[in-house]
Amino acid sequence: MRLDRFLSETTGMSRKEATKTLHRSEVTVNGDVAKKGVQQISDDSVVIWNGVQLKLMGPTYLMMHKPTGSVCANDDPNHMTIFAYLDIPNPDKLHTVGRLDVDTSGLLLITNDGQWSHRITSPKHKCTKVYRAWLADPVDEADVKLFAEGIQLRGEATLTEPAKLEIVGEKEALVYITEGRYHQVRRMFAACGNKVESLHREQVGELALDPDLAPGEARALTAEEVALF
Ligand code: URA
Repeated sequence: MRLDRFLSETTGMSRKEATKTLHRSEVTVNGDVAKKGVQQISDDSVVIWNGVQLKLMGPTYLMMHKPTGSVCANDDPNHMTIFAYLDIPNPDKLHTVGRLDVDTSGLLLITNDGQWSHRITSPKHKCTKVYRAWLADPVDEADVKLFAEGIQLRGEATLTEPAKLEIVGEKEALVYITEGRYHQVRRMFAACGNKVESLHREQVGELALDPDLAPGEARALTAEEVALF
């Protein structure tokens, strides 16, 4: 890889800024000042800028406690994006594993490993997502059967896959779904004549949101957590 591209990928600076940085003799490669962006960098090159060794982003797996009001997008004119909460140089190299809508909080997985995220989001794998929903009206016992049988959502060709609805309070329920249709949980309750007032994702597969993460905080997954999927 060219040195100017390496600088830009590891720091987030533009190629133009990288060229200027090199001209200012701020970068060394294997101990020698490097001034030319065309210089090739290999896997074992030691590149130092302002005393800090730069490293390319390897496979990255994060869990975030997504706050309400943030969007799962790289840019948004009206809302904070979830990537703005990550203090890393090139967050646009990462993607979210599925999406949570702007008003939903909770467990969000973020990675640069497309195959890993596919295993979680592909309908084929039927990975269970667990949501806690707070509702406008008392949850109807009859909805448990409707969720289990599949619900006809407006504008959809097929019924939703069987889902588990667990009533945990008068207006509070846990929902277990294996798909990720647009605003699925809100629309399932709407189809039953109720309204979701707050929605929080607690779990994806066997992985639960770390209770130590405050809204907006993220941490790297452990190797064991990555291997769950
Ligand atoms: N269902 C919803 O309605 N919203 C989400 O963010 C996720 C599932």
